[in-house]
Amino acid sequence: MSFEHFPDGLGIGVPAPRLTWTLPKGGGSQEAYEVELTRAGRADRTGRVAGRDQVLVAWPGAPLASRERVTVRVRVWTTDFDAPSDWSGPSVVEAGLLDAADWHAVPVGAAWDEDPEAERRPARVRKDFCLAGPVTRARLYITAHGLYEAEINGRRVGDETLAPGWTVYPHRLRYRTHDVTGHLTEGANTIGAWLGDGWYRGKYGFDGGTRNIYGTDQSLIAQLEVTYEDGTTASFATDGTWSAAPGPILTSGLYEGETFDARLHDPGWATPTGSGAGERTPVRTNSRDLGTLVAPTGPPVRCTEEIAPVEVTRTGDDRHLLDFGQNLVGRLRVTLDGPAGTAVTLRHAEVLEEGELATRPLREAYATDTLILSGRGPLTWEPRFTLHGFRYAEVSGWTADLTADMVTARVYHTDMRRTGWFECSDPLVNRLHENVLWSMRGNFVDIPTDCPQRDERLGWTGDIQIFAPTASFLYDCAGMLDSWLTDVGLEQLPDGTIPWYVPVIPGEPMWTPIHPGAAWGDVATVTPWTLHQRFGDLGLLRRHYPMAKKWVDLVESLAGPTRLWDTGVQLGDWLDPAAPPDDPAAGRTDRYLVATAYFAHSARHLALAAAALGNDADAERYSALADEVAEAFRHRYVLPSGRMTSDSPTAYGVALAFGLLTPPQRHPAGDRLAQLVVEDDARIATGFVGTPLICDALTDTGHLDIAYRLLLQTECPSWLYTVTMGATTIWERWDSLRPDGSLNPGGMTSFNHYALGAVADWLHRVVGGITATAPGYRKIVFRPRPGGGITSARTRHETPYGTVSISWEQTATGMTADIVVPEGCEATAELPGCAPVALGPGEHVLDTAKLAIQAV
Ligand code: BGC
Repeated sequence: MSFEHFPDGLGIGVPAPRLTWTLPKGGGSQEAYEVELTRAGRADRTGRVAGRDQVLVAWPGAPLASRERVTVRVRVWTTDFDAPSDWSGPSVVEAGLLDAADWHAVPVGAAWDEDPEAERRPARVRKDFCLAGPVTRARLYITAHGLYEAEINGRRVGDETLAPGWTVYPHRLRYRTHDVTGHLTEGANTIGAWLGDGWYRGKYGFDGGTRNIYGTDQSLIAQLEVTYEDGTTASFATDGTWSAAPGPILTSGLYEGETFDARLHDPGWATPTGSGAGERTPVRTNSRDLGTLVAPTGPPVRCTEEIAPVEVTRTGDDRHLLDFGQNLVGRLRVTLDGPAGTAVTLRHAEVLEEGELATRPLREAYATDTLILSGRGPLTWEPRFTLHGFRYAEVSGWTADLTADMVTARVYHTDMRRTGWFECSDPLVNRLHENVLWSMRGNFVDIPTDCPQRDERLGWTGDIQIFAPTASFLYDCAGMLDSWLTDVGLEQLPDGTIPWYVPVIPGEPMWTPIHPGAAWGDVATVTPWTLHQRFGDLGLLRRHYPMAKKWVDLVESLAGPTRLWDTGVQLGDWLDPAAPPDDPAAGRTDRYLVATAYFAHSARHLALAAAALGNDADAERYSALADEVAEAFRHRYVLPSGRMTSDSPTAYGVALAFGLLTPPQRHPAGDRLAQLVVEDDARIATGFVGTPLICDALTDTGHLDIAYRLLLQTECPSWLYTVTMGATTIWERWDSLRPDGSLNPGGMTSFNHYALGAVADWLHRVVGGITATAPGYRKIVFRPRPGGGITSARTRHETPYGTVSISWEQTATGMTADIVVPEGCEATAELPGCAPVALGPGEHVLDTAKLAIQAV
């Protein structure tokens, strides 16, 4: 049993959380269910409810009150079992603070003078308090202006980093609920928090960054609520009685990195006996509309893996170069013991240039951490309020030998549940898939970002629009992206314009004022639909529908009666390899062709969403609009010869994959696309827009072999070129590293950008063979299309209904496939050369030679 897309049920922010459960193995499909809610010791049952719903089922009782804790169980009646199932194990959901009136915490931070235009030393805030007796339940509700890490009696609370994450703070600031019962003791206790500037008031963004984007204060907002054994309660919230002191972090920035002076650190600072009383000063109380505090809908950012260096090389008297063998996002943890005052500096980079860290691609992100040793014995340290994108690091200021056990790279990202796996007989393709996975990990850091290393790391709307189908296969990202889409809606301009990146921060002239742009703005229509398809969440689709509609209405008005969107700032097929390094929008495809294609695509998606939501009038209106735009597109961009005005793969890619051509036009367009690819020797010729579409456009028009040639090409530019050049993540540019080993001179040269990895969705559906044909994978088609000499593939996905998988292998006579259909789902297998076969839940072994199915 799970609640919404919320991973653990503690501190949920909706009063009527929807329930999802999976069916017992071998049960077939659900016929009915019964849910039991136990609140305050009293169990209530729904009785037998007939129906198949088991994903995001409406809360079957009175809404939760703030702090209320309910135990939930379910049992089901299924087609293949006579009796109802056993009751599921108990799952507990506990509401957070659902009402502004539940809060009485006040933001508190340093009261000393600070220059808001300069680097400010972060504060720690602290409060001693006394508990009158043993406590049976304690909750800490906590957030900050800036970033925080809390401790109670010297023990860290939770394990998340960069909390509270990044939202459109004036409207929404996330708080988290922690069970801290085990942190407390009767009598004297201390709570404290480290504070950092983070996104709230730190310096980040373009051209050297902007400070104080959301405010100038750095404050903690926390409310500790305890229940004593006798049932009485007490609350200790941030208020004017807290104290603040400068901490041992001297400087801290998301891009810059952190400087920590261990000489100034008392590890027991947040205990009742902690030293430093003399330095403590009263806090300043700051202000906040507590009605803007919201509970999270997805998991936090956490360390999910630790990686040891594969190579440590001494490069100077006091310098070592470390190679972690993997481009990753995180930070170093070092264990060092040296004389007081020794300053050890850690710098980071994704690639090397002539044996040194190549930091030019980082632009103005210095990615430098400094640890000043205390001389009080071995110290294990890692920075708190920063992350870096790197494979290599340089440690300087350390003259003794540095060994691999002294340094660990800790990998951080939003700790989503992994749900997707793919592997095939081609090791290069497997590495490509790994690279996609790593780029997703590195760029799902509370919001979906473009890149994790340079002075950007923003929620670029176009990047996630094209990557969301891949992302939603690999990880359960529904809760995280739902939160971010809420912010997209909040940042939407009154005329319907969707910003280039969300949250919006001051931009370069190119991005200011904000213009509506195709492929980026279409995140409003396409991405909620993608998430609904993959996670079966109609509520999500409904919530974001007004944003989607406003976007399409805006584009409709911009296009006017011609139905052609052929004006304004457009990025076209961004980063087409033919575009010059300094003008990535100047690719070979007319940018207005792309804009009109996306207009039709978005209108079509809006119509689909309207139909799914039962809004027939809108469904009809926007489907007619989509038809009209497609017709205008054909008149304007398809020549009488069947060629397109931009005779480029992306032009044919959008026309085919978005269904903009008439049936007689499709075949010649597919042929021309294939011909273009072949003429270019199957090197890739598409950017952000064409890349996710081109393999599907080829596959769907009978050119599967050409799609495989594209996939398997290793010459530059191509997906596998990057792999043969040693890539361990997806690059921003096809030639971020050029064939001669030099770095691309363009101002944007990231080695960790997931966008061009959007081909993984084709790997999952076409090479692997798993496609959802009804929301949430309730209906599945298994249609593997082998080619390119790939002789086997294994693909698995954790759907909301359970595991779906297919493992196929080519044989002398055809193909064998082991298939698993989740309980509650229907499937069809369409194996090469065979008529479709209907499959029910469970395991199946299919052999195309025998055309027979044997149940396992
Ligand atoms: C980002 C992109 C983004 C683009 C928009 C870049 O700087 O890194 O991935 O979509 O700008 O033009």
